[in-house]
Amino acid sequence: MKGVILAGGTGSRLHPLTKITNKHLLPVYDRPMIYYPIEALVAAEVRDILIVTGGNHAGEFLKLLGNGKEFGLKHINYTYQEGAGGIAEALGLAEHFAAGEKVVVFLGDNIIERNIIQAVDSFGTQERGAKILLKEVENPKEYGVAELADDRILNIEEKPQDPKSNLAVIGMYMYGNDVFDVVKTLKPSRRGELEITDVNNHYIAAGIMTYEILDGWWGDAGESIDELLRVSNLVAQTGANHT
Ligand code: DAU
Repeated sequence: MKGVILAGGTGSRLHPLTKITNKHLLPVYDRPMIYYPIEALVAAEVRDILIVTGGNHAGEFLKLLGNGKEFGLKHINYTYQEGAGGIAEALGLAEHFAAGEKVVVFLGDNIIERNIIQAVDSFGTQERGAKILLKEVENPKEYGVAELADDRILNIEEKPQDPKSNLAVIGMYMYGNDVFDVVKTLKPSRRGELEITDVNNHYIAAGIMTYEILDGWWGDAGESIDELLRVSNLVAQTGANHT
């Protein structure tokens, strides 16, 4: 299985911090934000990794990460997203890299406490479709929110006014290689982006989406300055060792 970390976008919710750098290079306690998804993938034994980035500071990723020696890697792949056309658009740029394999996709601003190796292994044996991870949150309006019935996901709504549950879809998705065909069918949303929630709803409608509830804490460090602080404090208190 191949790993894809999405680290493009504009980072506008963290202005003015992101006026002079890419959001994923900002510190979260003692490390740049981008370190955490790389560490999480390596801990899950996903070692063939592509970083999709964009904007004016893409070169800084190469300076910071090089070939990934610090993470025990021999090589990291990089690609560039022109503009910020959405998470699904950024994922579409990984088609060549995925080369027919399944992919584990991490949003570059998502940080998790524990190791997700069990979920990744279980998706490895899943015949087709996709798998997502859910986590109970206090402010579901800020996220993709899953509606469940009888342990099945009925639908995901992106940042709903009136959330049907408090289960957020975390920014870690597993897909069969057909995801690249799904991305090609998407139309831009009202905010002008290709939405990952539309990709996920495609798999739900086809009846081939599985899910697990994430163990340990989860944070979306790019959601707001307050969330960046909360996640930094969580890392300081408990670490994000992915054990
Ligand atoms: O954090 C989890 C949430 O992430 C999910 O619950 C939502 O369903 C999902 O849409 C996403 O929402 P956000 O509003 O937090 O997404 P954001 O625009 O912050 O983008 C998340 C990451 O994706 C960010 O770290 C950079 C990357 N990205 C984003 C865009 C729009 C790209 O690489 N390219 C892009 O064009």
